Amino acid sequence: MDRMAMPPEEMSGGGVTIRLGEYVEPQAPTHVPILSYKIDIAGRAVGEVRLRLGDSDDLKRYFGQIGYEVYPAFRGRGHVTAACRLALNVMRELGYEEVWITCNPENFASRRVCEKIGGAHVDTVDIPVGHVMHEHGILQKCRYRVVL
Ligand SMILES: CC(C)(COP(=O)(O)OP(=O)(O)OC[C@H]1O[C@@H](n2cnc3c(N)ncnc32)[C@H](O)[C@@H]1OP(=O)(O)O)[C@@H](O)C(=O)NCCC(=O)NCCS
Repeated sequence: MDRMAMPPEEMSGGGVTIRLGEYVEPQAPTHVPILSYKIDIAGRAVGEVRLRLGDSDDLKRYFGQIGYEVYPAFRGRGHVTAACRLALNVMRELGYEEVWITCNPENFASRRVCEKIGGAHVDTVDIPVGHVMHEHGILQKCRYRVVL
């Protein structure tokens, strides 16, 4: 797998553009590099999609390799679904053959996004006691796998 490919600065499709905002270097030995893309509709930032680079068990099991958010006023219009499809294209360009996305079980909108972009619900895992997520009150994650 070629992980040295340069990420695209922007990509458009499905009515949205994702535009590379920042590359966040790992801040601790356990952190991973993050590519943060703004979701843009006609020049207006409506949300973000973040690519967490790596394929550690911690990423694939708990954090997920793609995170996303749409600002409240712009939700329910399919923007994040379109942006995530573009994010999957970026991951493919970076050499990934599969992507794991995780959601809190009660986050039905996020789970639906995973389904709409072709994710299969593989399992729901307990967050181990002592894990940073557990310390933040997150007890379970649903894991979705998207084959690229
Ligand atoms: C999760 C989030 C990104 C979804 O954004 P959105 O703009 O609603 O997403 P989309 O419009 O692309 O798709 C949402 C889908 O979920 C569905 N949905 C929304 N609320 C739902 C609910 N309570 N139960 C079931 N489905 C729901 C919508 O109907 C839509 O599916 P459809 O197209 O089949 O009708 C947004 O709620 C958000 O930013 N939340 C805060 C951050 C977050 O939770 N990020 C995900 C972390 S894993």
